Amino acid sequence: MDTEREVDQATRRAFFDQVRRHTGIAMSERKWTLLEGRLRRRLRELALTGYRDYLHVLEAKPDEVRDFIDLVTTNETSFFRTPRIWEYFAGQFLPRWFDAHADTPLRVWSAAASSGEEAYTVAMLCEEFRSRHPAFRYRILATDIGDAILRKAAAAHYQGRSIDGLQQSHPELLAKYFVAADGGFSAGPALRANVSFRRYNLHEPPRDIGAMDVTLLRNVLIYFDTDGQQAVLENVRRAMAPEGVLIVGESESLSRFEMGFAFEQPLIYRNGRRP
Ligand SMILES: C[S@@+](CC[C@H](N)C(=O)[O-])C[C@H]1O[C@@H](n2cnc3c(N)ncnc32)[C@H](O)[C@@H]1O
Repeated sequence: MDTEREVDQATRRAFFDQVRRHTGIAMSERKWTLLEGRLRRRLRELALTGYRDYLHVLEAKPDEVRDFIDLVTTNETSFFRTPRIWEYFAGQFLPRWFDAHADTPLRVWSAAASSGEEAYTVAMLCEEFRSRHPAFRYRILATDIGDAILRKAAAAHYQGRSIDGLQQSHPELLAKYFVAADGGFSAGPALRANVSFRRYNLHEPPRDIGAMDVTLLRNVLIYFDTDGQQAVLENVRRAMAPEGVLIVGESESLSRFEMGFAFEQPLIYRNGRRP
């Protein structure tokens, strides 16, 4: 099996090209060891003897592309990731927004949702806000490019590190909004009722996604090169409400892009009105 032998540079490049073509993720040679480990598992599952064979499968079987995307994406996430964002959202954004828009449902977009912890974090905070302001309404759209991870998000069943983190940071919310099931915890009906899921590649123009008041685009821009980031930000902006808020991840910044997002606080930007 030539999977044990060194993979030549042309083959490595062909894989990086496939990753970029299907996800927009820019991988360099540094990432080969990571990618190789993930590919090796898939080759075993398909009983293939070489990496080149898998490239042929990718070209010949369009269905394989979805599995390929699942294996090349990194889905690291957690409930209440980056606490200061959630302090801003619950403590500043929601009260201000509700004062100005009491009659309209808030639309929140978790734009690289992974397994759903981000979307359900929003749902918990919105439910808490609604318990104090019964007229408040909201809808959350969670999108991701990965089929398998979106199925996990929609199943909303969590265990291990994910649930341990929530237990430590917000035990009262875990007790209130989750139910123990199958050795873990499932999001209860109050959280599920307002969250919907859809497959969406950030590199495609957004269709039927629009006028989002809050967009969480966190820990995904880092995977794209500068041109890719610019293209994704343009797509995302098209789906945002005028003056909607864009929140990025801890190691992401929009400072080098001139495209109508105004800095509000670190990691938080506001969509400027279109000219
Ligand atoms: C590291 S996770 C971030 C999850 C969450 N936003 C957070 O900050 O915890 C990155 C997610 O981006 C998704 N992703 C990667 N490329 C994408 C693309 N082109 N379009 C949509 N989602 C993408 C991956 O599938 C993965 O679930």
